Amino acid sequence: MEVIVLGSAAGGGFPQWNCNAPTSRAARDGAGRAKVRTQASIAVSADGDRWLLINASPDLRQQLLQNRVFWPRHGLRDTPIEAVLLTSAEIDHVAGLLSMRESQPFRLWATSSVLEILAENPIFGALSPDYVERGRFPLGEAVAVEGHQGPLGITVRAFPVPGKVPLFLESRHPGDLAGSAEDTIGLEISCGTARFHYIPGCARLTPELSNQLQGSSLLFFDGTLWSDNELVDLGISVKTGARMGHMSISGPGGTLAAFADMAINRKIFIHVNTTNPVLAEDAPERATLTAAGWEVAEDGMRISL
Ligand code: MLT
Ligand code: MN
Repeated sequence: MEVIVLGSAAGGGFPQWNCNAPTSRAARDGAGRAKVRTQASIAVSADGDRWLLINASPDLRQQLLQNRVFWPRHGLRDTPIEAVLLTSAEIDHVAGLLSMRESQPFRLWATSSVLEILAENPIFGALSPDYVERGRFPLGEAVAVEGHQGPLGITVRAFPVPGKVPLFLESRHPGDLAGSAEDTIGLEISCGTARFHYIPGCARLTPELSNQLQGSSLLFFDGTLWSDNELVDLGISVKTGARMGHMSISGPGGTLAAFADMAINRKIFIHVNTTNPVLAEDAPERATLTAAGWEVAEDGMRISL
């Protein structure tokens, strides 16, 4: 199984267009301390030829241009991407669908709640049902994922993850932003004996989730913020990580502590926010993370399992 990291940053990318915080400045200043990153998405293939896209980021067009494997191969219209599977309806996971509207057949998989959000937004009608077949992805079942031309040889089991309703729907859920089991999901992706987990957004590591991840050979996990108060301390926002639906990397309830005793072979942070100091390769926070056995995803990373 081949995995390509198309994008590794949180919503808005790295650096975000209007962010002038120290880490974002490091991405712009040309000194090479921090690599720019597009918004989080990965692609997975059993054979290196037919691909499943996990989330369609607003940077999709740029991501496909940057990775030759996704260029059209034959005929006048073509893509090796046969299916898209969404882990939430957040803008950074769905906006790229609008760049896939050019009469191209593919299968679109999502939970029923995410499909409903897409269905009520008429702009996604640009993905004509003549070409794009939308399908409900169930939770808790191992599903042989169908692409446009048949099964892709990849099995996915989706499971609920503590999260939050999409930012643009918060006003509909006053008082309880946690959302339903189908609003934010994690994925166990396998092909033969190879298996990994993809969880770009997670508010908390529950005992159930930790049981599921125990023994994983590869985990991509929510790396949005270094500290829960990061945006508040920088004076950028009043929102904590907890309010945004993201557990933070550091601190007593943070990801490094939560995973410290778990047997996971390779652990990679993805969906990293433009303010997160770990994006600067010489930052002490980055050294702490590395010492704890974690990596930070980069655009273009390829992993064979
Ligand atoms: C998030 O991950 O919290 C969202 O993508 C936020 C956003 O839409 O900017
Ligand atoms: Mn996001």
